Amino acid sequence: MTEPTAKKSMDEIMALCKRRGFIFQASEIYGGINGFWDYGPLGAQLKKNLKDAWWQDTVLTPPPGPDGKPVSMVGLDSCIIQNPKVWVASGHVGGFNDPMIDCRESKRRYRADHLWVLGVADAAQERFYAYVEGDDEGRDRALKLLGKYTKRQLTDADVVASPLAKHPASALTNTVGPDTKEVGTLTEPRAFNLMFKTYVGATASEEDVAYLRPETAQGIFLNFKNVTDTTRVKMPFGIAQMGKAFRNEVTPRNFTFRSREFEQMEIEFFCAPGTTNEWYAFWRDLRMRWWQSLGLASDNLVLREHDKDELAHYAKTGAGTSDVEYRFPFTYPGFGELEGIADRSDFDLKQHAQHSKTKLEWFDPEAKERYVPHVIEPSAGADRGVLALLCEAYTPDPARPSKVYMKFAPRLSPLKAGVFPLVAKDGMPEIAEKLYQELKPRFGAVEFDPKQTIGKRYARMDEAGCPFCFTIDSDTAKDQSVTVRERDTCAQERVALDKVSTYLAERILV
Ligand code: GAP
Repeated sequence: MTEPTAKKSMDEIMALCKRRGFIFQASEIYGGINGFWDYGPLGAQLKKNLKDAWWQDTVLTPPPGPDGKPVSMVGLDSCIIQNPKVWVASGHVGGFNDPMIDCRESKRRYRADHLWVLGVADAAQERFYAYVEGDDEGRDRALKLLGKYTKRQLTDADVVASPLAKHPASALTNTVGPDTKEVGTLTEPRAFNLMFKTYVGATASEEDVAYLRPETAQGIFLNFKNVTDTTRVKMPFGIAQMGKAFRNEVTPRNFTFRSREFEQMEIEFFCAPGTTNEWYAFWRDLRMRWWQSLGLASDNLVLREHDKDELAHYAKTGAGTSDVEYRFPFTYPGFGELEGIADRSDFDLKQHAQHSKTKLEWFDPEAKERYVPHVIEPSAGADRGVLALLCEAYTPDPARPSKVYMKFAPRLSPLKAGVFPLVAKDGMPEIAEKLYQELKPRFGAVEFDPKQTIGKRYARMDEAGCPFCFTIDSDTAKDQSVTVRERDTCAQERVALDKVSTYLAERILV
């Protein structure tokens, strides 16, 4: 079992992401833009490796289904902008809202469901102090201010923390906001629609309003008929798509966890109405195992079944909804959602059939019956996946000069190998360059680095998460072997120069 991620510092992880080119603030030279992030060279490759693994394992080679037969899956790549009627039918224009609270004094904006309040446990409540869920400093500040107000040295045992949403609206007049010192500055919660609007065409009039998709899923429902008309898929089958989604989040935060532009990897799995329970259980368990297979430690990963009152509008009936959750440093001791697996019933196909006046049905030729398929949806976030991989991989190690290495599974590692001449003389650079040119076409993400001391070069590779480094030294010309150094253990051994490619393939291409 690895150390829980909670012991790691999010500030240090973010600093490494910036220093080594995993993730940058978008528009950084203009002061950034809240809720948007760019992936640097290492981050872009890491994210691509994650998406490739998802496509490979869920679309191309999923394991057999509950009936022991191959699972039928096809891919799709639909548009970000669709006819705006799509989002009326899906319920997003009318109902894709988050409750928002403003502070009149600090001009800050909060998600009402992310605000918690502290009050004194043993007193008739006079005053509450609000803080943002998961913000330890904010909670400490609230505790301090509450102590000052009650003129008591308060400990955790003296106070009660509860979600603001559980309090009556009238309690707001007795609440001090997270960034103020006075009561009554917070507004009542208001619904805020998360859809990004844009205009299609030259006039920019109200008739030309369109929306950036808030989920990739709807593009799949829109193409249900196209796919069934043009392929030989048979019920049950899945359509998978990954791509950008956009949400004008009220409070983007926690690095890339809640962004305004992000990527999803979604499957809509269509099946006969009476079979949803078994397919729901299949996808829920498979998706949990998949995240585990990427190296996320078991004690940092949970599968959580939603309570009835948490279910989305499309999942009120049916087999249920579960989340695969990861214990991020900023959610500790709790967990944050990586992927949701939901029984969406026949909600979406029925909505689109009704609004578009197009039949979206399946005809079962054996049973000679027509029905609207039900849908099990495993919906994962690529950015949250990358963030979990970064948090999990970050391994401080006082025993080595770099003090930290990124322990990615070799399959996901953005760099597969480093090739170094020990020193830039005595023919070593030439041999190293030749080895580099041999490995590069086969493994792609291979780096040749002739600069700095060997210790510094290993440290650079450790921070990039490169699992193997090959060093050409003064013995290489004599015995035709090189030193291979393994990232996690720092163990070194000699490998024959002409066996390096096979050595690497056996450990990387798993
Ligand atoms: N089609 C269903 C759907 O979109 P969701 O729970 O809203 O469900 C699915 O989103 C996944 O997308 C989440 O589990 C999360 O990984 C990712 N996601 C959602 N909102 C996000 C945001 N603001 N920033 C980054 N990832 C997000």
